[in-house]
Amino acid sequence: MPELSTRGQRLVDAPPMPGYISEHFTRLNAGASGYVGLCIAENKLQSAALNEQLAGYAVPASALGYDAMTGNAVFRERLARYMGRTFLGRDFLTEQIVLLAGAGSVLEMLFYVLCDSGDGVLVPTPSYAGFWPDLETRDELNIVPVHCASATDFRLTPELLDHALEHAAYPVTAMLFTTPNNPLGRVYSRAEILEVAEWAARRDIHLVVDEIYALSVFGSREFVSVASVLPELGDKVHVVWGFSKDFGASGLRAGVMVSENRHVLDAAGALAYWAACSGHTQHLLSSLITDDAAVDAHIDATRRGLAQAYGRVTEVLDAFGIPYIAAEAAFFLICDLRRWLQAPTFAAEQALWRRMLDEANVNLTPGEACRISEPGFFRLCYAGEDTGLVTDAIKRLGMALARA
Ligand SMILES: Cc1ncc(COP(=O)(O)O)c(C=O)c1O
Repeated sequence: MPELSTRGQRLVDAPPMPGYISEHFTRLNAGASGYVGLCIAENKLQSAALNEQLAGYAVPASALGYDAMTGNAVFRERLARYMGRTFLGRDFLTEQIVLLAGAGSVLEMLFYVLCDSGDGVLVPTPSYAGFWPDLETRDELNIVPVHCASATDFRLTPELLDHALEHAAYPVTAMLFTTPNNPLGRVYSRAEILEVAEWAARRDIHLVVDEIYALSVFGSREFVSVASVLPELGDKVHVVWGFSKDFGASGLRAGVMVSENRHVLDAAGALAYWAACSGHTQHLLSSLITDDAAVDAHIDATRRGLAQAYGRVTEVLDAFGIPYIAAEAAFFLICDLRRWLQAPTFAAEQALWRRMLDEANVNLTPGEACRISEPGFFRLCYAGEDTGLVTDAIKRLGMALARA
């Protein structure tokens, strides 16, 4: 065993990767036949078309050299325009955009410069599981969950925020809010976003809004960005987005931070070298987002594809009597499997997850990973595989549950 630092050893002893993801990669790498992972938030429905589109753009030799670590200036200017036109509702300046290797890197860097180690960060639940490793591993922050309840349709209210803040065991200096929500696939309304922003302003804490699914909305309710709700972001509101979800390009590692706070931008810029996005990727994405016809067609196809997949998946869930919470965005929904738990505990949830894996060879994200405070909910991601394969997997799940 090599000698490691205390912090290095900590990573070995308690790897930040959750169990359901390790299981996923173990089964994938073993080439487990019949295995279907419905636990990773990826949209591969337009992958072939996007790949073909990107293959048509020539990358110049200049992309091989060093450039600004926060992203090439021309690309950032184009990003500001593209994001302004499609979901932010207004244009930002090139210097208010920082590009890094994925939204996860953006979150880690941003929180590093907003908070001190030991600080608390409010995160409403149900939540994206990855926020825990993003904020707690190297930034050494403490996430303070704001638990929303199934009985009230997982609605977030100022009273819940007050309660979490008042009972927090750490000094809370920021909040991380996601719209559309992962894992609920829910779009928050203008009024709800304003309520959250006003609450954070009253409490004088930073508000980071993760809008990484902004363009993957397929329901009737339109996406609203915090940037279009507030007249200005000011020093304490920051937006995160990226190409991993809306472009199904998680492997390219391109995430974006938007902020009006000069100091935050400078501090994040000082760290950018350690998580810069490659010049090659930047050039391809820069070409794509200035090709208005191609990029708009891609997003239209993404929305149509998600609506179609969601429709087929929910039909099968209905046919097997598996309850779920209706979604209107992103590529997942929450199934309510409480009735199949042996007991209302997280141990029973884990046992049910294992049983579905063993009997149906299907991997869902356990609600505990999404920090849902009540056992028995599971996230089902339906756009990472061909829809026929996903619906077959759900049928296997339905049959396994029926044997209970
Ligand atoms: C809400 C949210 N934010 C951030 C990320 C991380 O994105 P990236 O792959 O760009 O690091 C994810 C990935 O699932 C996500 O769901």
